[in-house]
Amino acid sequence: MSEDIKQKDSLKESTTVKAPIVEALKTAYENPTYQFHIPGHTKGKAIYKDFKKLIGEKVLSIDTTDEFDNLGTLHPATGPIKEAQELAAKAFGARKTFFLLNGSTAGNLAVAMAFTKPGQKIIVNRNCHRSIITGLMISGAEPVWVCPERIEDWAIWGNIEASKIEALLEKDKNISMVWITNPTYEGVVSDVKSISAICKKYGVPLVVDEAHGCLWNFNKHLPETALKLGADAVVHSLHKTGGSMSQTSMLHISKDSILDETSVEKSLKLLHSTSPSLLLLASLDAARANLETKAGLKLIDRTIANAKYLRKRLDAIPNLHQVKSDFGYKTDVTKVFIKIDGLSGKRLESILEIDFGIEVESASDIGVLILCNMGNKRSDFVYLADSLEKIASGNHKDIYYLENRKHMPMLEPQIIMSLRDAYYADKERILKKDATGRISAEVIAECPPGISILLPGELITKDQMPYLHDYETLEVVKG
Ligand SMILES: Cc1ncc(COP(=O)(O)O)c(C=O)c1O
Repeated sequence: MSEDIKQKDSLKESTTVKAPIVEALKTAYENPTYQFHIPGHTKGKAIYKDFKKLIGEKVLSIDTTDEFDNLGTLHPATGPIKEAQELAAKAFGARKTFFLLNGSTAGNLAVAMAFTKPGQKIIVNRNCHRSIITGLMISGAEPVWVCPERIEDWAIWGNIEASKIEALLEKDKNISMVWITNPTYEGVVSDVKSISAICKKYGVPLVVDEAHGCLWNFNKHLPETALKLGADAVVHSLHKTGGSMSQTSMLHISKDSILDETSVEKSLKLLHSTSPSLLLLASLDAARANLETKAGLKLIDRTIANAKYLRKRLDAIPNLHQVKSDFGYKTDVTKVFIKIDGLSGKRLESILEIDFGIEVESASDIGVLILCNMGNKRSDFVYLADSLEKIASGNHKDIYYLENRKHMPMLEPQIIMSLRDAYYADKERILKKDATGRISAEVIAECPPGISILLPGELITKDQMPYLHDYETLEVVKG
């Protein structure tokens, strides 16, 4: 029996999968009470009419928070919420899973608060999401940057080399944790297995921000999840690719983790709203349930088949290029980063949107990022490929195209002050033209993808100027 068939057989029909929060919300909906508690719109009875018309009465009538209607609590996890988190841990192969509101941002902040301390040194990849920087500013730990490979032609980051992590751990025995991002926004995959083996050798925990890889555990044609490769904690943005509602994510503590989940629990209790949305929590429960059904697995199969179809069509367009595994990196097939000769990514994005009604995930000066989602049908990809063919063979002019503009920062920072000291220092805002030689006091990390160009405590140099084209002024440490 092939691996695939085995995997499918171990999955369940949707009728046998449990979704405790969804079920509890349904029961609450079917058994309405006289409500004298928050939220004050009271099942949509006191809300702006046009908004109600737009989202529907039913959504508003189940917009509630924990503690009410036998829905359990998030902190501590009780009732259906506790059960749903346990089912998620099982599905993802974790010892413990926490549901996150405020996205993977909340997960990264909780990791920083729980597992790092003031003055500790933490190895972090320079192209991490800005939420990791925020976390370190809160905890007072200091990043020891590891700069991944760069793919200069595309102005994107490549993979994190395990040997670089080992060299840093060997050089400084006071490093307390390794915290990496995998995959990159554009789908470049690092060798987490080797990195995890190195972390174990040096006795330090490994945390992986796998925000863009939450489907990996559910299909063997996708890269392997860090939860199976020895990471101690993993963050997943279920809302990005896993089918839950915006701003919902999960933080997993792996089965053999050396990290203590009770400290994450405490941090999340402080970070989360005290009125968590049951609608959002139910959407996480539903996304996990969906991924456990045969129908959910089929959706992932379809996504991969569609991504392969798209890539094949794109390969046949002479002046269109795509990032793929034969660039020497492993990649996630569903994230398709492309460029067309003579067009900047921004221009391509606007042609796609204005002339073809197509919205892509993001655009840089170089290219555009297409996410092949579970919700996309084959006909969507046919239309996209047809449209790209037309654009690539057309005569589009690019008034935005500037040779020296690069979207991604490719520079190793010169650190003058600690992140936290610079962030809380007395500051002044000055013209960018006067900023060379000064110490940055702000986080400059545009979203998407939220990767830092300049951080508090770093020397501002003339080499950074091409990356700061959208800024007229910069905030610097005073004096
Ligand atoms: C690698 C990475 N980590 C974390 C985040 C934050 O995720 P969220 O938007 O779920 O808060 C992002 C967002 O783009 C990201 O790219």
